[in-house]
Amino acid sequence: MKTRRPIVAGNWKMNKTLAEAGELLEGLVPELKDVDSVGIIVCTPYTNLAVAKEKLAGTNIKVGAQNLHWEKSGAFTGEVSADMLKDFCEYVIIGHSERRAMFGETDETVNKKVFASLEVGLMPIVCVGETLEENEAGQTAEVVGRMVREGLKGLDQEKAARVVVAYEPVWAIGTGKTATPEQANDVHKNVIRPILREMFGEAVGDGMRILYGGSVKPGNAKELFGMSDIDGGLIGGASLKVADFVGIVEGAF
Ligand code: 13P
Repeated sequence: MKTRRPIVAGNWKMNKTLAEAGELLEGLVPELKDVDSVGIIVCTPYTNLAVAKEKLAGTNIKVGAQNLHWEKSGAFTGEVSADMLKDFCEYVIIGHSERRAMFGETDETVNKKVFASLEVGLMPIVCVGETLEENEAGQTAEVVGRMVREGLKGLDQEKAARVVVAYEPVWAIGTGKTATPEQANDVHKNVIRPILREMFGEAVGDGMRILYGGSVKPGNAKELFGMSDIDGGLIGGASLKVADFVGIVEGAF
């Protein structure tokens, strides 16, 4: 029996116009309204945060963003700060592999963003994961371990307790290739969890949620989420369809 309350978070990535977002949110609310055993989050593009806040007000679905800048304000064209985000949402994804691969995100920027988000009360969902090349070279533990240590460096226990970690092997994202439940759980249980315990103490480390992400579908969610150290999922493609996302949430019951 797991004591950590599972979380299922949708990462919409760069999808959904305002009208499409409204439609998806309106579809999710009635389907998920009776769920209380799972924390549900939708992480929308910045342009949909206002409609998400409006349509999800008073529901059991929380809103998240997909990135932020670590500075409070200033001459950073195109960027959004934690203070700005907290008017709209409670969570923010940090260090997604797409941002690391395409937008220059590093362990250092991840760490700055983690601090910036926690400082204003936003809960970060910190993504870590190895590429196919690293996986095949047997470097998974080293790469994922480094991302966890560097990304969460310097946090005290109180701050760490508010962090959610998401293990997303790059080779499983959007590829239809899911890590097997055993493969994913091995990284959660034997790589990430021991580092969290070492960094933040046993009680805090054991309490932190570690989500799995990468081609999660209604058909494989239950098996994945049933593993000892998989505390829910971060869902890409399947979070864009009501039936699929609902099916995945149900896999976390
Ligand atoms: P997919 O579920 O589309 O593989 O994406 C996973 C992901 O990157 C979630 O952040």
